[in-house]
Amino acid sequence: MEIIPLTDEDRVSVRMLELACIREYVETIMEQNWEDFDQEVRQKLGASASGSFSHYRDAGLSFVAKESNKVVGFIFAQIIPWISGIEKAVWVENMGVDPEFRRMGIGYLLMRRLAEEGKKKGANVIHSSISPDNISSLLLHKKLNFLAEDRKIAYLDLSDI
Ligand SMILES: CC(C)(COP(=O)(O)OP(=O)(O)OC[C@H]1O[C@@H](n2cnc3c(N)ncnc32)[C@H](O)[C@@H]1OP(=O)(O)O)[C@@H](O)C(=O)NCCC(=O)NCCS
Repeated sequence: MEIIPLTDEDRVSVRMLELACIREYVETIMEQNWEDFDQEVRQKLGASASGSFSHYRDAGLSFVAKESNKVVGFIFAQIIPWISGIEKAVWVENMGVDPEFRRMGIGYLLMRRLAEEGKKKGANVIHSSISPDNISSLLLHKKLNFLAEDRKIAYLDLSDI
C-alpha cells in the first residue's frame, strides 16, 4: 500500500470512491434516500467534483492510498491563510477509505502524511470537520490526538509532528 499525491490519473476512481462514501454517509448517518438527490446535485458533491478536483490536486495536500495500483483511500485538503485567528491552517475537506480496506490503518496513514506535508509547507494546525454521529471518523481523529471538544471541528497542533 502506498500513499501518493493526487494526480489526474486518479480522477475517475477517486470520484467513484468519494461518491460511494458520501452515499454511505447520506444513507447511514443522515438516514436519507440517495435516490432523492437528483443527478445535478450529486455531480456537485465532494471535493472530487469537476469544479474542485483541479484545485485540490494543485493545492499539493491531497493524497490517495493505492493498493496494487487501485485507489482504496483519499484525503482532500488545502492550506487556508487564516482561520479562527490562526495563520496557515490545513483544512481537510474530505477523506474516505474503501469499505473493504477499512481498519487497516489507511485513514491513519493518510492523515499522518497530510500532517507531515502540511507542516513542511509551514502550516501550524489542521482543522477537520467531524460529525458527532460518525464514530469511525471521531475515533480516527482521537487516535491522531486531534482536539475535538465541540465534536464538530477537530484541531491538531502540528508542533509535535
Ligand atoms: C473514517 C475512515 C476514513 C477511517 O478509515 P480507516 O482506514 O478505516 O481507519 P484506520 O484503520 O486508519 O483507523 C485508525 C483508528 O481509527 C479508529 N477507528 C477507525 N474506524 C473505526 C471503527 N469503525 N470503530 C472503532 N474505531 C475505529 C481506531 O482507533 C483505529 O485504530 P485501531 O484500528 O488501531 O483501533 C473510514 O471509516 C471511512 O472512510 N468512513 C466513511 C467516510 C467518512 O466518514 N469519512 C470521514 C469524513 S471526516
